[in-house]
Amino acid sequence: MQASSRSIVTNQPGPHEDLSRRVTRALAYPLRKPVAEHTRQAFEAARTWRAARLDMPLILDAGCGVGVSTRRLAERFANHAVIGVDRSESRLTREHGPLPDNALLVRADLVDFWRLALADGWRPVRHYLLYPNPYPKAAHLKMRWQGHPVLPVILALGGRLELRSNWRLYVEEFALAVAQATGRKAEVGPHVPGNDFLTPFEQKYHVSGQPLWKLVVELPHDPGLVPIS
Ligand SMILES: C[S@@+](CC[C@H](N)C(=O)[O-])C[C@H]1O[C@@H](n2cnc3c(N)ncnc32)[C@H](O)[C@@H]1O
Repeated sequence: MQASSRSIVTNQPGPHEDLSRRVTRALAYPLRKPVAEHTRQAFEAARTWRAARLDMPLILDAGCGVGVSTRRLAERFANHAVIGVDRSESRLTREHGPLPDNALLVRADLVDFWRLALADGWRPVRHYLLYPNPYPKAAHLKMRWQGHPVLPVILALGGRLELRSNWRLYVEEFALAVAQATGRKAEVGPHVPGNDFLTPFEQKYHVSGQPLWKLVVELPHDPGLVPIS
């Protein structure tokens, strides 16, 4: 892979001044966006796949891209059911070798998929957000997961949540949002992958010489975090 990735450029000097207000809002007002039919169908297929593996603890790989991390997690956690979700058909269909039996790739919008998963009582033991789109312009805070109205749903699913990014501020903002919403302190620190890359973006950023950042927090399953319509 070429060392060609540029570092994040942002007009934000520190955590976004509107973050706390957006988290408060997300905790107070229900997300009214209707669930798209294609994600409902994709969720049903995932539900059926999972029903055959209910004895296996669940791992979610949210925004899995081409699914390399989903495959690697399935190999690493061979007795877990690993579901990778991404909205990009073109990424999901790229050839990266056969899927292990305990892995599934789903094309869906996470904003809907997460809500359906929570409503169906899913309790992932591990939940990965690996290199989410950074949206580094201050005006795009609401598109980062920590500024998005779906944040309470992500947190309510519970389990060991791990976020990785090449943008330190993204991880720091997410930690602030976790603390505000749940009272839990997330561990934030550098992530040094060595040669063991979990995802193509991780590899691309690392090979380009960019530092990587990680957040880990253990969360209870807490549907009460999500405001009711
Ligand atoms: C920067 S890429 C990282 C992909 C992969 N995790 C990696 O590290 O190689 C971010 C991914 O998130 C996906 N994504 C962003 N928003 C999404 C959404 N609302 N629903 C599903 N996937 C989404 C994009 O399609 C993209 O594949």
